[in-house]
Amino acid sequence: MKILGIETSCDETAAAVVTSTGDPARPWAVASNVVSSQTEIHREWGGIVPEIASRQHVADICGVVEAALEQASTPLSGIDAIAVTEGPGLVGSLLVGVSFAKALAAARGLPIVGVHHLAGHIESLTLEHGELPLPAVILVVSGGHTSLYFVPARGEYRLVGQTRDDAAGEAYDKVARLLGLGYPGGPVMDRLAAGGRDDAVALPVTRFTRPDRNDAPADIRDGEFPDDVKRMAEFSFSGLKTAAVRHIEQHGAGDVADFCASFQRVVVTTLVDRLFAVASRLGARSVGIAGGVSANRRLRADAAARGGRERLPVFVPAMSLSTDNAAMIAAAGLRRLSLKGASALDFNASASLPISR
Ligand code: KG4
Ligand code: ZN
Repeated sequence: MKILGIETSCDETAAAVVTSTGDPARPWAVASNVVSSQTEIHREWGGIVPEIASRQHVADICGVVEAALEQASTPLSGIDAIAVTEGPGLVGSLLVGVSFAKALAAARGLPIVGVHHLAGHIESLTLEHGELPLPAVILVVSGGHTSLYFVPARGEYRLVGQTRDDAAGEAYDKVARLLGLGYPGGPVMDRLAAGGRDDAVALPVTRFTRPDRNDAPADIRDGEFPDDVKRMAEFSFSGLKTAAVRHIEQHGAGDVADFCASFQRVVVTTLVDRLFAVASRLGARSVGIAGGVSANRRLRADAAARGGRERLPVFVPAMSLSTDNAAMIAAAGLRRLSLKGASALDFNASASLPISR
């Protein structure tokens, strides 16, 4: 089966063709993966302007879908189904993809499947590495999300916890802007951090208290995660951001590389500690990191080292599958199609779609 994936949840217009291989261990293969990024357009404003984003999606979507079909050497008649991100995201942006996908599906008589954007990020790991050992705990970390998911079975995604305020990528972007490093700031800070001392600036680490710490695997058969596990999976980056802002205002950034390295140490340590703490409590057999921030070099290195020590395999996608793309949406669409069948045509874009329905 060949599926066309469409993703327009934020500021990337993306289309991809993914085929099912018939191999249960490596179920999907990327035939094409086209992304038209609006970063240059939004850079001028220092962040994403939703109204500009939706208009740009309208301008780009036909060309992006055509390019994806062409690069996959597949005419539209060779496509068997369509997958599209239905949420969460910017509703004006989502609507462009959903309307386009529905129109195409109706015109060609094709099954269509609505996909949760975060399910896409999670399935980017299987798309690249094949089926993960389950249960797995997956950290999705980007400019919009910092969330931990428990995956007990194929196609089942259960949110354990998420950030209470800023996403990790958002914290990077805001601090980078203050340092005059431009937008998006994560990649620049990551690069600069490599040449800095990570203990140069004292920034606060948000600690999670675990008075009821219990190293035995949690019993989650009743469907609820225990409170201590939920607390472990809660993130907060606004305190760190405020401390960074205050430090820069009072003392200046000092050596920018040192500042970036110190900031990065706090963010990465928090992410890695919680990912592995939750994985251990939930008896995970693998962990994964997906989303734009998974490109971070220290995050990859620290997670790999920790996984090595704890004998837990760690999966991270390639760059092209870590930032927003449609191949991951196509993959999650194939998963959903095989488990639950096609969506009814009356589904709609939803800015705050819950992951399990
Ligand atoms: O997944 P993504 O492309 O878009 C969404 O936010 O959904 O992620 C973009 C975010 C931005 O905040 C960017 O600064 C961050 O990922 N990012 C990084 C790195 N590369 C991208 N943050 C830290 N280190 C990086 N190497
Ligand atoms: Zn994303």
